[in-house]
Amino acid sequence: MRTTKQQELPEAVPSLEAKPSRRRHILDLDDFTRDEIEFVFETADAMKEVLEREIKKVPTLRGKTLVTLFYEPSTRTRVSFEQAAKNLSADVINLSASGSSVEKGESLIDTARTLQALGADIIVMRHYHAGAPYLIAQHVAVSVINGGDGCHAHPTQGLLDLYTIREHLGTIDGAKVVIIGDILHSRVARSNIWGLTRMGAEVILCAPPTLVPVGLGAPAFPVVTVEPSLDRALKGADVIMPLRLQKERQKGGLLPTLREYIQFYQLDSRRLSLAKPDALVLHPGPMNEGIEITPEVAHGAQSVIEEQVTKGVAVRMALLYLLVGGAE
Ligand code: CP
Repeated sequence: MRTTKQQELPEAVPSLEAKPSRRRHILDLDDFTRDEIEFVFETADAMKEVLEREIKKVPTLRGKTLVTLFYEPSTRTRVSFEQAAKNLSADVINLSASGSSVEKGESLIDTARTLQALGADIIVMRHYHAGAPYLIAQHVAVSVINGGDGCHAHPTQGLLDLYTIREHLGTIDGAKVVIIGDILHSRVARSNIWGLTRMGAEVILCAPPTLVPVGLGAPAFPVVTVEPSLDRALKGADVIMPLRLQKERQKGGLLPTLREYIQFYQLDSRRLSLAKPDALVLHPGPMNEGIEITPEVAHGAQSVIEEQVTKGVAVRMALLYLLVGGAE
């Protein structure tokens, strides 16, 4: 089939020969080098051009099949991967645990092997158990992307957060990033901590002590500090990221009352004014407006929350291109 220039990858997309690693899976950001993250940014920059075209489609992954295998709910991650894959002309199959043979007792490994036998080239997987995508990656030949595993990791969300920050600040190096709230249960926070620190940011974790996991600050992470006072944490912040209280994962007893949590940890306009005047407000979503963030801040001038979602498509296009773009 003939293609016009409008249907081809932009020339600015980096050659896969220059790729800094031969990565097959994306399981977390702990094994991403700075060069590899920069390469993802550069590729996403070029993919944005495709998203600005009238026809947002290039043939790069024609003949490839991406399966989303989700054992937990999702709006952003699942739809964004579907959109990204379709923009690259891949076929997409969405499978959720409910309604599949998982309900009849089929194991995770057998489910993944079945998807491979049906022709999947990439499995994007979300699971309530930390480590589930790692297990699958050991048992199938296809590429596995972790779309969120328990409280452990959510690398593609981390990359799109980094990309959004770099777009606005020009660089992540030296940025002061404050992550607020339920860090204990947040896979997004963990992946962000790997990515942000690898790119040279200073990270402040701000939460009641019961919601901060042990070991995330120094000495394991020397540029990560824990500051329980939100007013103190926000001073001079370049980026603020409140997190949702994950009540579905909490066993109870971690907070005295929701009212007290809101009083001390909600990001409102007064608190936002303690940060740098043009500080960015990010949120991985879904938000519980009125709890970790007020509606004014969530939808205010400093919020880039919707932009994160939009940029997520370009970042995921870049990741799919890097994983299977050159494969026969
Ligand atoms: N950020 C994120 O993972 O959102 P979803 O749960 O909607 O995918």
